[in-house]
Amino acid sequence: MTLTPETRELIDTREWSELWQPAGDIALANHGSYGRTFLAVRTLHAAIEVETDQDPARFFRYDHHDRIEAAADEIGEFLGVPADHAVAFTHNASTAVLEAVGAYATPQGPILTTNLGYGGIRYGLVGLAPRLATSYEEVELDSIGDAASIGDAVLEAVEQYTPSVIVLDQISSATAMRLPVEALIPAIRALSPETRIVIDAAHAAGMERDPVVAGADAWVSNLHKWVCASTGTAVIVTERGSDMAPAFRSWTGDEAFPRSFTWIGTDAKAAYLSAPLATQIMDRLIAAGLDEHITKILHDAGDELAEAWGVSPDPRPEGSAAPWMRLIEMPIRSLTQQELNGASLIIRNQLKTDVIFTQFQGSTFIRLSAHGYNTLGDYERLVEAPSVLSSY
Ligand SMILES: Cc1ncc(COP(=O)(O)O)c(C=O)c1O
Repeated sequence: MTLTPETRELIDTREWSELWQPAGDIALANHGSYGRTFLAVRTLHAAIEVETDQDPARFFRYDHHDRIEAAADEIGEFLGVPADHAVAFTHNASTAVLEAVGAYATPQGPILTTNLGYGGIRYGLVGLAPRLATSYEEVELDSIGDAASIGDAVLEAVEQYTPSVIVLDQISSATAMRLPVEALIPAIRALSPETRIVIDAAHAAGMERDPVVAGADAWVSNLHKWVCASTGTAVIVTERGSDMAPAFRSWTGDEAFPRSFTWIGTDAKAAYLSAPLATQIMDRLIAAGLDEHITKILHDAGDELAEAWGVSPDPRPEGSAAPWMRLIEMPIRSLTQQELNGASLIIRNQLKTDVIFTQFQGSTFIRLSAHGYNTLGDYERLVEAPSVLSSY
């Protein structure tokens, strides 16, 4: 499972957009919401499905455990997972966070998270809490507060609630901010040693070098966002040999982590088994200047839009910007939630560009992101976005 000469050549000759399926007639300026899969990974994924189908009994009964665990170990190397920790696959960050919280929450303390947590996961936690005979609490953070104010507010809430589990985002989806999780983990431990800490780092794999933060009880990331593995590929990282197990246990459920997650009934495994190839492509792209490519596009596109719209170039406090995403305020009136929900569709229809909007502190922001296939041209029609939305 190594890079083909064709893939190497595309990377080395900087024909990076050809690593993905050609885009349709919509300019993609919002990679982070869903991610796209490398073509080479899709090819391998399809080949593994064919192989599985040739002899499913051999695959599921005899082969797949070791292959899944070898693939997970390779992902662990890409992520820089420490030797005493291990990686297990799950289908997405949403289920991975809920698995971790499900394993740790107790009636002794609530599940605590923040308003910067991902909406789908907050809904999930609200629903999960009563099933675990506990409650849900949410601390209200300043949406674009600096690391110190965010840290203080989280610690105050830990002191107030003594949660059995806290879920913190490493990179916030709505504000594209890198939150101070490294500093918070030991501070939470000191205040409340019984609290289990789950880090939702859905955006971190691929975007950050050495993304796994030390000291968390569980760290979760998607591989189908920035690593460009197949849709339906995420990881959960925790101590090797621990008793972390899925909520719905199956054949290997009583074994130590990560084997506890390996065999959860008959399941589609090709996404997981093809994921190491995505990390190999990412490693080579990063060595060839992927960070610089993305940073420059977002810098140039963001500054161009901010200048055209007469707004500040980036509202995020210094040092807290997620590197492959950018946030720009829009010079428009505050939108209702319903209008906000429809805004991306209007821009897709009228400007043929896929973007995402977010709103906080009474202002609306556009969140831009980029990957190796993007060019500056993908963002240029957005200059018209405020006028399109102001007539809405
Ligand atoms: C911080 C965060 N957590 C979780 C998710 C959910 O990811 P998925 O839909 O792959 O479960 C997202 C998606 O954007 C996210 O930004």
